[in-house]
Amino acid sequence: MATQLKVQLGPLKLQNPVLVASGTFGYGEEYNRLYDVSRLGGIVTKSISLKPRSGNPVPRIYETPSGMINAIGLQNVGLEAFIQKKMPFLRSLKGPRIIVNIVGDRISEYVELAARLEDVKGIDGLELNLSCPNCERGGIEFGVNPKLTAEVIRKVRRRTRRAIIAKLSPNVTDVTLIARAAAEAGADALSLINTLLALAVDASTWRPRIATVTGGLSGPAVKPVALRMVWQVRRALPKTPIIGLGGIMTARDAVEFLLCGANAVQLGTVNYVNPKAPLEVIAGLKSYLAERKLKSPSALVGKLQVPERLRGLPQVVTG
Ligand SMILES: Cc1cc2nc3c(=O)[nH]c(=O)nc-3n(C[C@H](O)[C@H](O)[C@H](O)COP(=O)(O)O)c2cc1C
Repeated sequence: MATQLKVQLGPLKLQNPVLVASGTFGYGEEYNRLYDVSRLGGIVTKSISLKPRSGNPVPRIYETPSGMINAIGLQNVGLEAFIQKKMPFLRSLKGPRIIVNIVGDRISEYVELAARLEDVKGIDGLELNLSCPNCERGGIEFGVNPKLTAEVIRKVRRRTRRAIIAKLSPNVTDVTLIARAAAEAGADALSLINTLLALAVDASTWRPRIATVTGGLSGPAVKPVALRMVWQVRRALPKTPIIGLGGIMTARDAVEFLLCGANAVQLGTVNYVNPKAPLEVIAGLKSYLAERKLKSPSALVGKLQVPERLRGLPQVVTG
């Protein structure tokens, strides 16, 4: 019984469950100089907006204990340049699924992005970055409101045949409400989590470390929060495909996400520290499964051992 890594994620077939996360892998080409990126399960592009964006003023990155805060501000080349200059390389890759992450300031922008990408060849799915302020609603993040989340997904659903992955914000009280709204509105899969709203301070200058004051925390520091959210969403939605991310550095971290209920994982911040980490995670996952005579990653999904008496209870949140 040979171990194999193929997984099915809703309508998407992946050669392995290891994807690279939006904003940490550019558009793939740069990393292809370091290793053969066609071995990845999937590549998620930097968030693409209708028009190019130059992002926030610097400093917009700060290293924290076991993590980093970023406030890049969705800098990207814009839809037209993405299609003309970045898609040809991505389209040439036969192995990985190509997921284009899209972002807008209003619902109509997500819809237009989906519509204009519909005839572009070589795209397997759209990941909707819902951690973005909605201009029409006073800057509230789409992903913190179940109604807005559902509305944007429903409207994008009407304009695309491609897989829709809703990328959820962790900056909410109950992530299962948003997850359910997204799934019911037509998302084929959910990815969680995006970065956690954070602040770092310089005690010498009394200034924030990031020009925009707050930014998003990522890396190993957020992993326990991400695992908790994946587990909660898996319990609430037993059938919905989930991509887990947040602080994955090693194959064992990826295994932890699968045990909590993720069907696949994305690697983000680690790409800055150890660019070959995705290949190490793919190889490590294969050995982990083979050593235990498990034939596929799905054998781990949701297998976290929780005592029966604790399964239906609300989570313990206090010390
Ligand atoms: C520098 C940086 C830029 C990011 N840019 C985006 C982005 O454009 N769109 C998006 O959906 N997520 C973006 N993210 C969030 C990551 O994709 C990921 O959700 C988050 O960092 C948690 O995973 P990690 O701890 O493995 O990095 C960015 C993260 C970092 C560190």
